Amino acid sequence: MDGYLTIADYIKGEAKAIEEELKRSFDRMEMPPILKESMLYSLMAGGKRLRPILVLAAAAALNGKKDAALPAACAVEMVHTYSLIHDDLPALDNDDYRRGKLTNHKVFGEAMAIMAGDGLLTHAFALIPKMFSRFGVPAEQCLAIVADLALLAGPSGMVGGQVADLQGEQGQTTGEELDYIHTHKTGDMIVFSLKAGARSAGAGDEHLLALEKFGYAIGLAFQIQDDILDLTGDEDKLGKPLGSDEKMMKVTYPYLYGIEASQKKVEELTQTAKQAILAAGFPFPDKLLALADYLMKRDH
Ligand code: IPE
Ligand code: IPE
Ligand code: MG
Ligand code: MG
Ligand code: MG
Repeated sequence: MDGYLTIADYIKGEAKAIEEELKRSFDRMEMPPILKESMLYSLMAGGKRLRPILVLAAAAALNGKKDAALPAACAVEMVHTYSLIHDDLPALDNDDYRRGKLTNHKVFGEAMAIMAGDGLLTHAFALIPKMFSRFGVPAEQCLAIVADLALLAGPSGMVGGQVADLQGEQGQTTGEELDYIHTHKTGDMIVFSLKAGARSAGAGDEHLLALEKFGYAIGLAFQIQDDILDLTGDEDKLGKPLGSDEKMMKVTYPYLYGIEASQKKVEELTQTAKQAILAAGFPFPDKLLALADYLMKRDH
């Protein structure tokens, strides 16, 4: 694909471009040095960069320009990283390791971790207008991206999903409620990523709808796989502790349905996702399709 040998090479190459741009986005910004250190500690700690890669892959599927999509890619990684910093806090999942390093609050303290999250979330919104001013993405598309980000990351989106996750209770929460949790805490940011990339390339409604279907299917598959790996994964590969869900008595797919049925669901959702892309006639769908397959088999 495009001179890249494998999907793993593609991911590596795009992750490098994203990481360079993430660092650049803080150039010449004045702020208390400790805040910058705390934000960059988590942002540059590694991570798979799945969401920003989906931004770029969706743009590529419509023959869009990578440079024009990169600000949205960085924005979603900032929002995602903020969500992880806050997710790990003692008041939420109370985890000590993330991306192979101590969690933000373990290094900088809880107050600074909360502020680093706030800073990343807000800074993300400063990047989207650059798509218009630097790369000529039409203003209407940029406004739609901002509106999507606020909706899908906010109370009706990821934050709402995290709250439903906090309220979940073993023995009480139903399968339907669990799907709500996963759809919002994880699916919404994945859908945002795909739509933002597509909008940067001037997507129409049909392609946006197909990406929404694709995104919710791989998003649910991704969180089910995350829940499976929390039980069966390798801590060194994952870079975060195993058993976090059991410790917090979380309701998960493996808890409700068992590991085997959960794995089967991941496979089914991956097929559903790929069908949505194939049916919509994208000019260059290969990266999206390969990413769906790659994620199904991931071990971290
Ligand atoms: C972890 O996301 C949180 C979930 C929504 C499951 P990732 O597994 O994408 O974490 P990083 O970005 O690679 O660290
Ligand atoms: C978190 O889900 C999803 C977010 C929005 C951060 P998890 O709590 O399962 O994520 P991990 O396992 O800590 O990465
Ligand atoms: Mg959590
Ligand atoms: Mg967690
Ligand atoms: Mg998890």
